[in-house]
Parts: sequence; C-alpha cells; structure tokens
Amino acid sequence: MSKSSKRYTVTAALPYANGPVHIGHLAGVYVPADIFVRYLRSRKKDVLFVCGSDEHGVPITIRAQKEGVSPQQVVDKYHRIIGDSFREFGISFDVYSRTSAPVHHQTASDFFKKLHADDAFEVKESEQYYDEKAGQFLADRYIKGTCPNCGYTEAYGDQCESCGTSLSPSDLKDPRSMLSGAKPVMRKTTHWYLPLNDYESWLRKWILEGHKEWKSNVYGQVKSWIDQGLQPRAVTRDLDWGVPVPLKEAEGKVLYVWFDAPIGYISATKDWAEKSGKSWEEYWKDEDTNLVHFIGKDNIVFHCIIFPAMLKAHGDFILPENVPANEFLNLEGNKISTSRNWAVWLHEYLQEFPEKQDVLRYALCANAPETKDNDFTWKDFQAKNNNELVAILGNFVNRALVLTHKFYDGKVPAAGELFDIDNELIAKIKKLPAQTGENIEQYKFREALNTMMELARAGNKYLADTEPWKLVKENPERVKTIMNLGLQIAANLTIVAAPFIPFAMDKLQKMLNLSDLYWSEAGRTDLLQEGHQLEAAQLLFEKIEDQKVEEQVKKLEDTKAANEAENIKAAPAKGEVTYDDFMKMDIRIGTILEAEKVKKSKKLLKLKVDTGIDQRTIVSGIGQYFEPEKIIGQQVSVLVNLAPRPIMGIESQGMILMAEDSDGSLTFVLPGKKVADGSGVS
Ligand code: MF3
Ligand code: ZN
Repeated sequence: MSKSSKRYTVTAALPYANGPVHIGHLAGVYVPADIFVRYLRSRKKDVLFVCGSDEHGVPITIRAQKEGVSPQQVVDKYHRIIGDSFREFGISFDVYSRTSAPVHHQTASDFFKKLHADDAFEVKESEQYYDEKAGQFLADRYIKGTCPNCGYTEAYGDQCESCGTSLSPSDLKDPRSMLSGAKPVMRKTTHWYLPLNDYESWLRKWILEGHKEWKSNVYGQVKSWIDQGLQPRAVTRDLDWGVPVPLKEAEGKVLYVWFDAPIGYISATKDWAEKSGKSWEEYWKDEDTNLVHFIGKDNIVFHCIIFPAMLKAHGDFILPENVPANEFLNLEGNKISTSRNWAVWLHEYLQEFPEKQDVLRYALCANAPETKDNDFTWKDFQAKNNNELVAILGNFVNRALVLTHKFYDGKVPAAGELFDIDNELIAKIKKLPAQTGENIEQYKFREALNTMMELARAGNKYLADTEPWKLVKENPERVKTIMNLGLQIAANLTIVAAPFIPFAMDKLQKMLNLSDLYWSEAGRTDLLQEGHQLEAAQLLFEKIEDQKVEEQVKKLEDTKAANEAENIKAAPAKGEVTYDDFMKMDIRIGTILEAEKVKKSKKLLKLKVDTGIDQRTIVSGIGQYFEPEKIIGQQVSVLVNLAPRPIMGIESQGMILMAEDSDGSLTFVLPGKKVADGSGVS
C-alpha cells in the first residue's frame, strides 16, 4: 500500500463462462482477493470488489457448437453456476457482472471508439484462412491439420496437442476447417492493432523503475516480456460472437476477447453503481484510488502490459497500483486440467463436504501458490482440518466457551492479578493482529494465515498450560483471569480470522454475543466486559475421517485410469514364432468345477478345472475381476501342456486364457458357442 489509501478498486480475473470453477481458480485468485478485501473493509476502507464472467472468445463458440446450442446459452449456464459457487464460498464481490451485458458492450465499444478517434491504432491488412463453405474467417482454434513437427493429424491452428509445439495456422499441412470440413483458403482481412512497441519505454519506466515492489514472479515476467521487445497486437477478430467493432468499415468483426474482457472491470463497476445508486467514476478516475488486480500467472502480460497500455492510451483512467499474480496450483502432483477432468470442482466439493467452505478456504490459503506452483492433496486437506482447525482453533474456542458456561453460567468473569504467563499472552494478543495485517497488505497471505493461527495456538497453549479445569477448585480467582484472557483471544479471533474463515467467525461472533468489531479493535484485551453473557457453545469444525478423503483420492484415481485407458495404444506385436512353435501349444476348452480365493493374495484364485482329459488344479490371477462363487460352471480356454509350477505354495497345472482390456480388466477367451469339454483350439 504505497500510495495514499483513500479508496480501493479490487478486481479478480473474470473467469471464462465455458465451464465451472475449480480449486485452482479459488487458490490462485479468489481466496487471496477476498481475504484482502475483507481485511480492507475491516479497516473501514472504501473498497469496491468487482468481478464477472468473461463471456466472449473462441472457446465459448466452440463449446456452443459442440453442444449444439448458442454461445449465449453456454454463457448463461456457466455464469449462473460460477456465480453460485463464488457466493457459496463467501467470495464477497460487491458485484458479479458479465461481459455479454449491454453496459459492457457499450463501455467496451466506447473505449475502442475513443482510442480510434485518438489515432491510437494501426490498421493492417494480412492474409488469414477463410472457410468458403461456411462463409467466414477461421480462428486458429477452428483449423485442424497435420503437425509439421510430429505428423499428428489432429493438430490445431495454434498448437499441436500431441508434441506441444506452438503453431500458426499456415504451418499446418492439409488444413481443414472445423466448421465445414472444407479446405480453407487464404484471404485478405483488415485488423486494428495496438502498437505496444510505442509503449515500451513508458512501461519500462512505470513498472521496471516505478514498481520494484511488485511480487518477484510478476516483475520478472514483465521484465522478460519487455526485454524481448513488444510487438503491435491485433485487438479485433473476424468472428460473430463478441462486442462488434464500432466502425462502418469493420462489419462482421468483433473486439478481441482480451481487449474487451479487462474493460469488463470498468463495466462491472458501472453495473454496481447503477444498481446501488453510487458513482462509478471515482473508482476508476480518482488518483487517490488504488487499483489492484488479482490474477493467475497466465494473465500477467494482459494485466501488466496490454491493459495498462490501453488505459494509458485512453487517458481517463488510473493505472494498477499492484498486480499480485499467483502461480498455479496442482492437484495430487498433476497439473489441473479441465479436459482431463483432473480437478476438484467447487460445486462438487460442496455436495461432498457441505458447509465446509472454510476448510477449503483455509487449506487453499495455506497452500496458495504465491511464489511458485504448489500442490493440493486430500491428505494435506484433511491434516489442515484435523490438526489445525479442529485441534487448535476449534478446540481452543470450544474450551473457552464451554468452561465459561460451566463455571460462570456463561458470563464473562473479570481478570485479576496478572502473572508472567498472562503478560506474555497479552503481548501476543497485541502483536499478532498487527503482523497479520501487515502480511495481508504485502500480499503474503500464507504468512498472514500463519500469524493469525499463532494467536489461536497461543490461546490453546495457554489453556493447556494453565489447566483451569483443574485449578478451579483450589484457586477460583486465578481461573477467572485465565478464562477472561482466553475469551479475549476468542473475541480477537472474530476480527483477525474473519478474512480467512468468515463462516466460522460469524458463528463465533454469535456465540460470543458480539456485534461487528473492526480491525482497529484487534489487539485489545477488553473486548468482552465483565458480566457479558455468552450464547451456547457450538463446534466450529469437525474431524474429517480417513474414509472421506480416501473416497476423493479414489475418485481421482478412477479419473486417471479412465484417462490412461483412453490414451492406451495397443502394445506392438511380439517377436515372430514359427508354425511349429505355435502347434506345440495344446489349448482345450474346460469347465471350472471349484473356485476359492488363495489366502493372503488379492489377485489369485485356486480353480479346479475339468479339461475333458482330466480334472486339475490351476492357480489364476483373475481374483480382482471375478468372485469365486460366480465362476463355477464357467467354460474356459486352458493351456493344458504348460509345465506345472508352484504359485503361493500350490502347484498350478496349466493356464486359463484371458483377454485384457485397455483398462486392465479381464474377460474369458471362449468359443462363440458352448462346446464339449476337451475340444481343442488351434
Ligand atoms: N478469462 C480469463 C482467464 O480465465 C481472465 C480474464 S481477466 C480480464 O484466463 F481481465 F480479462 F477480465
Ligand atoms: Zn506435433
């Protein structure tokens, strides 16, 4: 908070309305932004927190086409789902708007017009693929062809997903349109470009010299972009979904989604102002306003270079004071991926962990990918809940309340004489809230969470060390002091922990029968007066059992298996054998007479098989797919002249032939109809 802090406009990246949001979004952007905003509100700052759905762009039109619906239907659906998720997780936007709203179209359109009138664009002609059958130009993602690098035939115009090479559409061999399948042709088209190169020296000065305090991951990325040299960027596209370019000569063109989306922050502010009868302009035009953008790392160039250049070109608006971008969150060691369904979706989480929003907020903040990519695991989620929220914060608060009810009918006792241990505690109560606040102001949310938890930890330890439940008979006066101080910590937590775990702190506030307290009151030990009546104690957090997280891990394992099965290619053929080699095999049809599990083995079944020649024992590794009692009477193919060999101490005389599917599951290899036992296979 380097500048004057009269007012704040805090933005969180507008999520694409082409899918629901997952824990990566929450950890990287929305939880830190919400903590920041809740803290500022508690400091009684004038803060406006804006967000909305990003509803334009090619991914949305592709999704619509796949689902056979209109783009508007796609965004309507996800705008609702995403908005609900944010609300349910307590992400406290003042407004959640959307870029298909008329106010946005108007704002983005006017923005473009102003830049156009000021001659801020370059107009250039280029050649682009055009689908003559569909009668339209093709976005990179709408063209498929053969990768020049690896020969993959399904490569996209911007990237080959097989070898990872980034491409431009003209690199593809045998290009085809995904709209009609037609072979696209090159056609001339005109676009409007923002000459970023003209802003280079200004950007250097403004960021590289003027904002050395930005997070190192952000500063570093910006520096490397600028050092590589900036190029003019097209801000228009040939597409029929988006904000129409407001020029007669640009019919059929729309603004590039990354041009209109950040303007969405401004339109969202107007949307809010209209609904609340306030003025939007001071949040975007007054130099005393701090503009802060919360984003993920893939958005850095747009928020630190392109949007500021747009704002600068426009001239009416303030520039961001900070852009605290985070890195990425992985899930159980793998990159979160929507297409591979490797994600924890927020709406699904709430179905499986109802009312546990704070637990996820807490776990995600504790693991926020602030300076490098980080990993979310269910084991760690469980540990954060059980060992921290339950065992420390919840346990402490519960003891403080329950004992007060037990000893004093729920009335806060007065503190008496103070000893060293009390004074040390009081010093912490004074110090920790301020430190938490400083960490938040420096965008160090993990550190802030730790500092906050130190307060709970100190309270928990204080009660454990002083053992008021034992002391109450022999020294009731002393216990009054202990309980008073314990309760003061609980009251402090309702202030200091609220930005992180707002639901639980609301509950605690009610239990303590407190009205809203502000950050300026944190650090005090007289928040609860003698005789103040508490409400009944309730548990703030509950233990999460192993089974609950194992289910989640299992779900992910299933996803992984399904993905792998999809990717599996049949193994190449084994080395050649002669006809004679093959004719050595004696394969017969037999029937299973008996089947039982082999002790201490998950996979093995001990079978008794009638081969038509004899009855023999065969040990077979099919136990994960077949129940012994269900395969009695089953016909099977048996390699009967395999040399006998001991398996788990049982002599196995032959082998049952099985087909293995790509997911590893097994099926019996059998003739098309029932044949007599002993029939040969060749
Ligand atoms: N929709 C983009 C994404 O999810 C973010 C847009 S942020 C805005 O990556 F500034 F453009 F709005
Ligand atoms: Zn390739």
